[in-house]
Amino acid sequence: MTISVLFVCLGNICRSPTAHGIFEHKIREAGLSEQVEIDSAGTAAWHIGKSPDARSAAAALQRGYDLSHLRARQSDEADFEHYDYILAMDESNLMDLRALSPANYRGHLGLFLEFARTFNEREVPDPYYGGNQGFEHVLDLVEDACEGLLNDVRQRL
Ligand code: 4NP
Repeated sequence: MTISVLFVCLGNICRSPTAHGIFEHKIREAGLSEQVEIDSAGTAAWHIGKSPDARSAAAALQRGYDLSHLRARQSDEADFEHYDYILAMDESNLMDLRALSPANYRGHLGLFLEFARTFNEREVPDPYYGGNQGFEHVLDLVEDACEGLLNDVRQRL
């Protein structure tokens, strides 16, 4: 593995596993699975060990992305020793990650949607308490930003 990417949200059961599964799919299609390591985590401990939210998994599967192998974990300091990119879904996740990050972290810590090209939003909104449309919007944003991220990663390989 030459590049490693960690996606982070609050619970690691909706947004970051969606990004994890979609980016994994795109990296596999690009033939880069041996060179890019992907993981996801949540800033909160509530859902450790759980599968992705059933609504996220169903919405992703409808677009051809399988999330069934993913299990939630919590982000921690050790992530900063390992990952080249640590990408937060919203500003609150990013603030929590900054509080956890060592001063000498040299990787890319930022908002995932910085890599989006079509959408102009800064944050992937938390879909947990809303309806199905929220999950579709997460997929739209994540697909867009994964394309931009794939380009960025390609340039560094
Ligand atoms: P996620 O969504 O951060 O995208 O995984 C959430 C999942 C669970 C909760 C909040 C957000 N929760 O409050 O349990």
